[in-house]
Amino acid sequence: MDQSQAVDVVVFGATGDLAARKLIPSLYQLYCTGHLVEGSRVIGAARSDHDDADFHKFIESDARQHIKDTDFEQSSWDAFLAIVCYETVDLMNLDGYDGLAKRLNTEPDKVRLYYLSVGPSLFSATCDGLAAAKLITKNSRIAVEKPLGRDLQSAREINHKLGTLFTEDQIYRIDHYLGKETVQNLLALRFGNSLFEPLWRHGHIRDVQITVAETLGIGTRGEFYDRTGAMRDMVQNHLLQLLCIIAMECPTGLEPDAMRDEKRKVLRALRPITGADVSKYTVRGQYKDGAITGEAVDAYLSESGVPEDSHTETFVSICAHIDTWRWSGVPFYLRTGKRMQEKLTQIVVNFDPLPHNIFADSGSIAVPNKLVIQLQPEESISLQMMAKMPGDRMKLEPVELALNPERNPIRRRHMEAYERVFMDSIKGNQTLFLRRDEVDAAWSWVDPILAGWEESQEPPRPYMAGTWGPAKSSSLLVQDGFAWNEES
Ligand code: BG6
Repeated sequence: MDQSQAVDVVVFGATGDLAARKLIPSLYQLYCTGHLVEGSRVIGAARSDHDDADFHKFIESDARQHIKDTDFEQSSWDAFLAIVCYETVDLMNLDGYDGLAKRLNTEPDKVRLYYLSVGPSLFSATCDGLAAAKLITKNSRIAVEKPLGRDLQSAREINHKLGTLFTEDQIYRIDHYLGKETVQNLLALRFGNSLFEPLWRHGHIRDVQITVAETLGIGTRGEFYDRTGAMRDMVQNHLLQLLCIIAMECPTGLEPDAMRDEKRKVLRALRPITGADVSKYTVRGQYKDGAITGEAVDAYLSESGVPEDSHTETFVSICAHIDTWRWSGVPFYLRTGKRMQEKLTQIVVNFDPLPHNIFADSGSIAVPNKLVIQLQPEESISLQMMAKMPGDRMKLEPVELALNPERNPIRRRHMEAYERVFMDSIKGNQTLFLRRDEVDAAWSWVDPILAGWEESQEPPRPYMAGTWGPAKSSSLLVQDGFAWNEES
C-alpha cells in the first residue's frame, strides 16, 4: 500500500479498557507523526448508544490521561478528535452494522482496517456481520487481538472463519509484545551482529529465563480473566513469542514469511509436556491477600467477577525444552504472574560458568556472564562480564556493559507497541503479526498442559500478593541447580 494513502480505522470495542489505555493514544501518536494521513478516519464502534460527542467525551476522560505530557499538543489533539467519530454496532445482530455501513460506504475503495478489540467469542459474529453488510472489500484488513480462541480447536474455528472471508494477507493476528522496541532490538542484536551467533547455543548457554511479572491485578476484567487465566492470557502468546525470538534461526530476510517460518519451527520443536510431566515441569498459582510496595491488596478470589471457588491461575512457571541441535539440553524457564513483587519483563540468557577460575586465590568468585534484555519497567540490554577492580590485587568483580539505546545520542522517541501494531497494519506489513500455523503450533503445545491441570483437579498453589509466586516455582530451577534472576 502507498504509505500516504488515507485509511478508515474501525475500532470494535472502542469504549473498552484497551481502547482507552492503548489504542486511542496510539492512534493519536500516529496522527501526530503523519502515519494517519489526511482523509483518514478513526471510527469507534461499540454496543452502547452514543454519538460522536459522547465518544469524544469518553476519549477526553479515559484515553487522554494515557498520553504522556511530552507527547501531547493541544492543537494536534483537537485536529485528531476531528477525524474521530462513533457508530453504535451490535456485533451479534446482523442488522446492527447499518450505521457503520452508511459511514464507510461514502468512500467504498478506501483501505479499511477493522480492529477487533473484543473477546474471541465475538470474532466470528463480527466477521459474519461485516460480510452480511458487504463491508469486506479487497482493500479491507482485519486485526485480531490475542488470545485467539481458548484452545487449538476454537482457534482453528476462528481461523477458519477468518480464512473464509479474508485472505491470509488481509489478516493481522496481533501480539503486541512483538511491537515492543526492545524485542525488535533483540532481533537487531542477534542478527545484526556476528558477535553472539557462535555462542548462541548449547555448549555456551546454560539456561534462558523469561519473566513477565506484573504488580497489577486483573482490574475490571474479572469475568474475562477468570475464563482465560495466565496460561492463555500470557504464555500461549507473549511468552512463547519472546521464546521464539530468542531461539529461532536467522531468517533469510525480514519479510513476513521468512520470520514466521523460523518462529514456527521453534514452536514445533518445543518438547511436549504431557501426563506426569505436567506437575514436574509446570507450576500454576493464584494470589492471596498481600501487599505491594506497602499497600495491602486483596486476594484473586475477592476480585469482582471472580467466583469464590475459582481455580483460574494468575501465575504460571514452566521449564521448557526445545528439541533442536542448537538448544539440546538448554532449559528455557518461563514465568508470568499478576500481583507480583515488581513489574518486571526481562529475558536473561545465562552463559556457561568458567571451566576453571585462575583468579580464585585473590578471592574472586567467577560469576558467569549473562545477557539481560529488559523490556519493563525500563527498556535496556546489558551484558554482565567480569573485570578487574582498580588496585594492586588481581580482584575481579562483575560489571555491566550497557547496550542501551538510551545512551545513544541520536536516539529518537520510542514507539509504543500499539503504535507499531497500527502502523504496520495500516502499511500492510505483516512481519510482526502471527501466521495461522504459528497460532496452531502454540496452542498444540499449551493444550496438553491445560488438560493436565484440569485432570489433576489440584487447585493452583497459593502465593502472597507482592511475592515472586509460589515457592514451587523456585524449586523448578533449584532441581536443575539454578535460581531465578530477580534483579531489575
Ligand atoms: C495483555 C494481557 O495482553 O498484556 C494483560 O491481556 C497484560 O493481562 C498485558 O496485563 C501486559 O502487557 P504489557 O505491555 O503491559 O506488558
